[in-house]
Amino acid sequence: MESALGIETVSLAGKKIILGVTGGIAAYKAAELCRLLVKAGAGVQVAMTAAAQQFVTPLTFQALSGQPVLTSLWDVADRDGMAHIHLSRAADLLLVAPASADFLAKLAQGRADDLLSTLCLARTCRLAVAPAMNREMWAAAPTRRNLEQLLADNVNVLGPAVGEQACGETGPGRMLEPAEILAALPALLGAGALAGKRVLITAGPTFEAIDPVRGLTNRSSGKMGYAVAQAAAEAGAAVCLVSGPTCLDTPAGVRRIDVQSASEMREAILHELPSDVFIAVAAVADYRVDTTAAQKIKKSGAGLTLNLIPNPDILAEVAALSDAPFCVGFAAETERLAEHAEAKRLKKKLPLLVGNLAQETLGQDSAELVLFDDRGQHRLPRADKLTQARILIRHLTSLLN
Ligand code: C5P
Repeated sequence: MESALGIETVSLAGKKIILGVTGGIAAYKAAELCRLLVKAGAGVQVAMTAAAQQFVTPLTFQALSGQPVLTSLWDVADRDGMAHIHLSRAADLLLVAPASADFLAKLAQGRADDLLSTLCLARTCRLAVAPAMNREMWAAAPTRRNLEQLLADNVNVLGPAVGEQACGETGPGRMLEPAEILAALPALLGAGALAGKRVLITAGPTFEAIDPVRGLTNRSSGKMGYAVAQAAAEAGAAVCLVSGPTCLDTPAGVRRIDVQSASEMREAILHELPSDVFIAVAAVADYRVDTTAAQKIKKSGAGLTLNLIPNPDILAEVAALSDAPFCVGFAAETERLAEHAEAKRLKKKLPLLVGNLAQETLGQDSAELVLFDDRGQHRLPRADKLTQARILIRHLTSLLN
């Protein structure tokens, strides 16, 4: 069990992955990634560039993958010298992690002057890269151009993360953590209990503008919705996350659409439908001001009255559609949780509703959830939000099936 990392739910059983390692200090993290891939059930063939071998030895990867590591286009023991073709054709995924700035440039150009770049060009399988480089190199115009080209060529780009770098600087360019890369793979590989399913999720608060500088919002951090998005992606779903304003990073492999108000959130959701599953985690404001002032409202000695009108109930509207997805609601209550949550579930006609006490959840890292469905109540033990989200996704999968 990998419970410390919390990634025991990822299954890549039977998948064949070529792990390409290029020259960067993050190559040491690729060793951990290799271990996690093997643990998730994948068959892993490692290919290293010459520069990668300056950082980590092939022996490390051989021990972890249980296979000899490929390092050169010229000395591959293959019956007809066509190893680059056979290998890439047999794979389900070619994953380059870390992918250096130089390797991204090579890929964008379609160059094939060593084993790994040749494998990439000869492949028929999906290609994913996890870039890792200094922040200035990441921001540099040529890297931007190369990245655009790679996205246009349908390459999946995982990360990078923002944070402290080996060079001592801080910014975007850090390779995603191995567990984060692993979590993004089921969706790319069509593996996992939700493989082939589209899952649409709302998260965070909404912001209802009063005038150009002020607005109504709430204490939702978005942590629960983002955790649910990550758990759904780990289970192999194609996840679209419609998010109100938050400070959170998008989980790897998740497509995110940013919105401000409930009306914008509703529009984005209707635009993204149809979907197999809709999970409404966002704390959508129930009211907005009837007219947003075009200019900043000036202070006066007198009181100020705002006229509030109801916002659309996005979840109720989606659940009432004739081709409604499997709908999951969230209910944050401050008292009488079971009573309010079950009433809400029946009123909105939801197969599954997740209840929690608002004061114990909003903005916090852990939660104590109760699942309400046709079979009754299921109380989950208090745990971090990602653990809770994974249990929720497992429960949802069992109901879907
Ligand atoms: O506001 P209420 O307590 O009814 O929220 C319950 C569920 O409905 C939540 O999952 C929330 O995301 C969703 N909701 C919505 N649109 C609203 C209000 C709530 O989708 N305007």
